[in-house]
Amino acid sequence: MTRQLSAEIAVPAQCYLAEGPVWDQAARLLRWVDINPGHVHAFDPATGAHTRFAAAGADGPAVPRPDAVPVGAIGLTTVGGLVYALVDAFALGPGQPGAAGDYPLTPIEGFAVDRSVIRFNDGKPSPWGDFWAGTMPWRRGGPACALYKLAPDGRVTELFGGVGLSNGLDWSEDRTRFFYADSFSGGVDVFTCDQATGELGARSRFVTIGNGIPDGLTLDADGCLWLAVFGTGEVHRYTPAGNLDTVIRLPVDQPTSVAFGGDDLSTLYITTARENLTAAEIAPQPHAGDIFACTTGTTGRPANRYAR
Ligand code: BGC
Ligand code: CA
Repeated sequence: MTRQLSAEIAVPAQCYLAEGPVWDQAARLLRWVDINPGHVHAFDPATGAHTRFAAAGADGPAVPRPDAVPVGAIGLTTVGGLVYALVDAFALGPGQPGAAGDYPLTPIEGFAVDRSVIRFNDGKPSPWGDFWAGTMPWRRGGPACALYKLAPDGRVTELFGGVGLSNGLDWSEDRTRFFYADSFSGGVDVFTCDQATGELGARSRFVTIGNGIPDGLTLDADGCLWLAVFGTGEVHRYTPAGNLDTVIRLPVDQPTSVAFGGDDLSTLYITTARENLTAAEIAPQPHAGDIFACTTGTTGRPANRYAR
């Protein structure tokens, strides 16, 4: 029997493409990005305060444009700042803007992808203190993409190529398995990985989803995998054996990612998107782009941090 759950609106954020939620335990904030306008959002569940800033200094346009500075993904760092996969390169920044609203973003030089055809998408700090982030084509039929690793010393290596659209990622608690969604592959793969170094080994299929696009994902404290299924209005939970045991139904079609948050990590936060919806498609789902929350009866794990 598959358990059915529903979710409530947690933050009426009205993002274009909300993604990459992460619970910052030290700051007690849920953070996420709105990719295309390059916004970094924060929500404090204790006070209800919701803030946002533009990582590149100025608001970018909501709709993709060559001169926008999208933020593909953020990760927390060990010194309380943020690590970025910007549209085409990595950067570091503080946890929030200064008193004057200034935001000093420090680029990590020496590596960039071709932003005319691809951009960074989902990414996360790994259990080994580096930051893994992948790329996606701006248009279907674009060039092959890849998953990259940014080491704490700023060096970038390609972990593997041949990717259609790099999306959700997470590691098992014992660090021996890496779960990865290439959205164009229609499912989630699992890699063996070296517990000490994170080096990837054999790749196999963990789960194939029938409908929709596999997007962001997270593993819970029981080793089950929660997956946002873009295009279906559903979040799925798969047991470690790959069986679907829970479905969260949302009143919007495009959930993008998931993260457990709150002091006890018992709330599953779900980001959603308005991208690519016509006015007629948006009309019945006015909460597309908002952040949802669901109490699932299980808890998450503290987020990894990039080591600097
Ligand atoms: C990307 C979106 C894309 C979606 C579904 C997200 O991670 O940022 O642009 O539409 O995945 O593939
Ligand atoms: Ca995603």
